[in-house]
Amino acid sequence: MSQDKLIRQAAEIIKKGGLVAFPTETVYGLGANAFQPLAVARIFEVKRRPHFDPLIVHVARHEDIEKLVVDVPAEAWTLANRFWPGPLTLVLQKKERVPDIVTAGLPTVAVRMPNHPLALDLIRESGSPIAAPSANLFGYLSPTTAQHVREQLGNEVELVLDGGPCQIGVESTILSFLEEKPRLLRPGGLSLEEIESVIGPVEVNTSKESRPISPGRLPKHYAPRTPIVVGQHAGGDSYRNKRVGLLSFRRPQGALSFQHVEVLSEQGDLRQAAANLFAALRRLDASHLDLIVAEPMPETGLGLAIMDRLRRASHHEDLTRCEK
Ligand code: TXA
Ligand code: MG
Repeated sequence: MSQDKLIRQAAEIIKKGGLVAFPTETVYGLGANAFQPLAVARIFEVKRRPHFDPLIVHVARHEDIEKLVVDVPAEAWTLANRFWPGPLTLVLQKKERVPDIVTAGLPTVAVRMPNHPLALDLIRESGSPIAAPSANLFGYLSPTTAQHVREQLGNEVELVLDGGPCQIGVESTILSFLEEKPRLLRPGGLSLEEIESVIGPVEVNTSKESRPISPGRLPKHYAPRTPIVVGQHAGGDSYRNKRVGLLSFRRPQGALSFQHVEVLSEQGDLRQAAANLFAALRRLDASHLDLIVAEPMPETGLGLAIMDRLRRASHHEDLTRCEK
């Protein structure tokens, strides 16, 4: 089928209240018409996602943000003009017409314009913004290929658009504009350095609010099923009688005794590492290991988002230790 025809078919599904999984530059999304609450409700069912976790709304034109939010502060416009389409999500006061199920009852909505031709064509052809979380079961690793989506959600989604592997590989950076100063809610595919070079210092949230306003920030999230620890490995020998895998940033030294080794970037390039991260973790997760050891990497550029995901993926390990 020609690409145009496929997009038209996908847009028909969205218009009729169905679900379409689609590629973006960050990760694959599971989309529904943002203005159809019943369609959006199905996203939560299919993902087994708790209703307190709001969705990002995807637009195809800068000006479409005005369909969704009351007011766009100057700095938010500056960033949108500079980085959209791209891996940046802006959290702003929502318009009343944005359904509560999209925002989990919050007075705000998260908006972004993805940088992928299939995503942009789909949104345009559907004639409405598309609400979409990452196309994975809640709490699991985000999908960066169409095959990842088919494996987990293939039977429950009307159509999976295949746009090849995602170029960036980690989810968008989320910035909130609710307070005087912009606040980082989730590090992601656009580096903090790049954002700050345009609008100056951003608040990096460290406060422990009682209610998670961004469940992507829940301690345990983005997790493989295999236990994972973040730390310098002591060599495979120290894990005697255990099947241990290694997630290495560069080519590792003394990793021969690991059952399975994944190297994120031989050249030590953090962008390349981000692009490989989730697929590498999935392969490790499929290797029947007792433990995955993930080497720490520098927390600059995309390293901040990578380390954020690794810490969250490893959190259940820390929790079990605390509980004992
Ligand atoms: O790159 C991405 O952002 C991908 C692609 C598909 O666009 N989407 C994605 O969606 O990662 P999801 O649902 O997996 O993560 C969205 C995060 C959640 O942690 C959610 O809590 C937060 O965005 N979020 C959504 N609306 C929000 C709001 N109004 N205020 C604060 N956080 C919000
Ligand atoms: Mg997600």
